Amino acid sequence: MRKDAQANAAISILDEFLDGQNLNIIFSNWTKNNRYAGSSDRESIRNMVFDILRVKKTFTSVLEKEKQPINGRALVFLYSVFYGLNLNEIFTGQKYGPVKLTDFEKEFSNLSNENINEYFGIIDNIPDFLTAQFKRSLGRNYRNAMRLLERRAPISIRVNPLKSDVSSILECLSSEGMKGKKSKTVRYGINITGNPRRLTQIQAFKDGCFEVQDLHSQKTIEDLPVNEHTKVLDYCAGAGGKILSIACSLNGNGKFYIHDIDKRKLKEADLRAKRAGVKFKRLDIENLQKYCCSFDSVIADVPCSGSGAWRRNPQQKWRITPESFNEILIRQTIILNEVKDLIKKNGYIFYITCSVLKIENEEVIYKFLSDNKHFRLLNKKDVTIDNHGDGFFCAVLQKKN
Ligand SMILES: C[S@@+](CC[C@H](N)C(=O)[O-])C[C@H]1O[C@@H](n2cnc3c(N)ncnc32)[C@H](O)[C@@H]1O
Repeated sequence: MRKDAQANAAISILDEFLDGQNLNIIFSNWTKNNRYAGSSDRESIRNMVFDILRVKKTFTSVLEKEKQPINGRALVFLYSVFYGLNLNEIFTGQKYGPVKLTDFEKEFSNLSNENINEYFGIIDNIPDFLTAQFKRSLGRNYRNAMRLLERRAPISIRVNPLKSDVSSILECLSSEGMKGKKSKTVRYGINITGNPRRLTQIQAFKDGCFEVQDLHSQKTIEDLPVNEHTKVLDYCAGAGGKILSIACSLNGNGKFYIHDIDKRKLKEADLRAKRAGVKFKRLDIENLQKYCCSFDSVIADVPCSGSGAWRRNPQQKWRITPESFNEILIRQTIILNEVKDLIKKNGYIFYITCSVLKIENEEVIYKFLSDNKHFRLLNKKDVTIDNHGDGFFCAVLQKKN
């Protein structure tokens, strides 16, 4: 596809997003209806849409100032100006491209660089109602985190020690035309530094030699108190990323159980376990009662705002509302209360979020501990957003009796 046709696709996708539709559904419908588009076209369109959504507030504030309508075209136009793209290649007015520049757009694009920087200003691209929570939680790191949330997230993998090792995977990536760098902070991590597009298509991935996983997600769970005799339940297992990581690091020894309120999500966890060469047993809500006081550890990777990973999933930050955020907070405490009786004496709850907000992290834990005196906080870890990975929180709570 030519650049103008890609931009036109991004415009229509953004229009549907602004209409309130789910971005994943919009992309999957677009792919179905545009079979001629290749994977590199889809990647370019996706990158453009995601780049725009990460800084949507910056662009909409310019449009509001200029009393211009906020729509897909206006966002793609400002993106093109912001990144100094050749506007004549994009707004071609040809069959598959966006119509030619309007008078306002021509005038705006003639502004000097200095004026353009002034126009875009420095805007924090987070929802207004969460600004105070971010400032309170991040303190001096707030500004830096705001800038990081505007950029693309790094791409990383976790090598599966049951099937391979870091040096072999580095060699394999290089032979497949990709580039990777061994992580300095996590045991099995590789940061993908070049050409990640085919990562999940290569044989080593299909053979379960590695999984795509953020380095900080790996770091969050790397030193949890588990051993090869541990019986672990992942209570909010979803696609199983956390328990998979633990199971692989224990050479598949130990007993691993998965549960999720939405059973459909566990299908992906089952597939990943099979690929990795480990076994998970599914537990339905009905069976859970039979497992009272029987687990050494329960992972509670609870639903959260996702604020630590918004650069990876920018639609999340524009969809969250004060009401939905409140519901999430309530749910976090409910889940802790649901899992507390499943643990043996001296066993652990691993409370995990991909949020950087204290109100979803330590404050949930402190409230739980004050209501449940038979638990104590063993340790907690804030993993901050940086160039290597997303923001996470993990607290280890031990049951005393
Ligand atoms: C952050 S995601 C889990 C991600 C997953 N652990 C991973 O590493 O891939 C949170 C999950 O919690 C599930 N969930 C939400 N409320 C729940 C509840 N009350 N009981 C169990 N699971 C719940 C959601 O369906 C979602 O899959």
